[in-house]
Amino acid sequence: MNPRIFLSPPHMGGNEQAYINEAFASNYIAPLGHNVDLFEQQIKEYTGAKYALALTSGTAAIHLALRVLGIKDGDEIMASTFTFIGSVAPILYERCIPFFIDSDTASWNLDPDLLEEELAKRSSKGIKQPKALILTHLYGQSAHILRIKNICQEYGVHLIEDAAESLGATMDGQHTGTFGEMGVYSFNGNKIITTSGGGVLVSNNAKLIEHARHLSTQAREATSHYEHTEYGYNYRMSNIIAGIGRGQMEVISERIKRRREIFDLYRAELDNIEGITFMPELETSHGNRWLTTLLLPEKVSPESIRTYLEKHNIEARPLWKPMHAQPLFKDSNGCINGVSDTLFAQGICLPSGSSMSNSEVKLVSSLIKDKLS
Ligand SMILES: Cc1ncc(COP(=O)(O)O)c(C=O)c1O
Repeated sequence: MNPRIFLSPPHMGGNEQAYINEAFASNYIAPLGHNVDLFEQQIKEYTGAKYALALTSGTAAIHLALRVLGIKDGDEIMASTFTFIGSVAPILYERCIPFFIDSDTASWNLDPDLLEEELAKRSSKGIKQPKALILTHLYGQSAHILRIKNICQEYGVHLIEDAAESLGATMDGQHTGTFGEMGVYSFNGNKIITTSGGGVLVSNNAKLIEHARHLSTQAREATSHYEHTEYGYNYRMSNIIAGIGRGQMEVISERIKRRREIFDLYRAELDNIEGITFMPELETSHGNRWLTTLLLPEKVSPESIRTYLEKHNIEARPLWKPMHAQPLFKDSNGCINGVSDTLFAQGICLPSGSSMSNSEVKLVSSLIKDKLS
């Protein structure tokens, strides 16, 4: 049996341990210190965002974005339905009401036509607009961000970009996560680069990031005793794991290059099979191809492929089950067109780790071909 092929395992660059050792040497075993400052600096330089705040997770970053944008109990928040739960759970933390928008087939991400129709309809009927949109760039591929940003601006809706999976992906050369008022990256264990767990909130608005920084450290006022005028959280990233982040940021470009090569290799192996469709890439965008994802021929269930690969010690995964189809959100409203339901029913994520060899990609491909023949 071949050694296990994981979906997207961590892939260290080499300097992470040295930066962790620096934290030990300086005894900054704390949620502040040199590694945290330098990691934030690297994110700003790499993405072009003016301000960055390192946190315990991407979910925490989305939560803080909602808080600092002034979202209140009972406000309505729109969100991509085709996403991971971490995108939208913070809507519930703040006792707000989610409204889900489906995908289009051109991007697999949020359909800008559906969004525009809904906001225009509300505007003409005098119905209240949502306070914010949480837009996800899924699997490392940019959504129609330019159009969606314009639509949000036209109707006065705050735009939060969930770029948890899309660090390094660009549209017209600009990084996903930097178009909206706030952007979020995740450094969870299986992301394109990782800190074992972690997140970063970015913005070009200094006040928003300063407020988020305050809330991320229990909202302590600047007094010698502990004074609080609002409630916060314990969300700041530790100086130890920021050391991992520093090392990982040194290799992000190599990691993206390799993920894109893996995608191209899968496509060369499988694209000529009738009924297989790979996740698209919008014109003028450049994705990080975090995971290679594809739709299988209609008669083939993704679960049959997943279990077949599992028998060969290979980890694959279904596409995200859309939020509108989750029992948790059974009473929620949205604009649903069936696209994300089809993606979930027919799609699969193939192992895509940047440490995979070409022969491993070919092995996965040949097993899929065997199973389909
Ligand atoms: C699309 C998306 N949003 C949000 C998150 C949440 O990030 P984290 O796991 O760092 O909380 C993730 C990843 O885990 C994700 O894939």
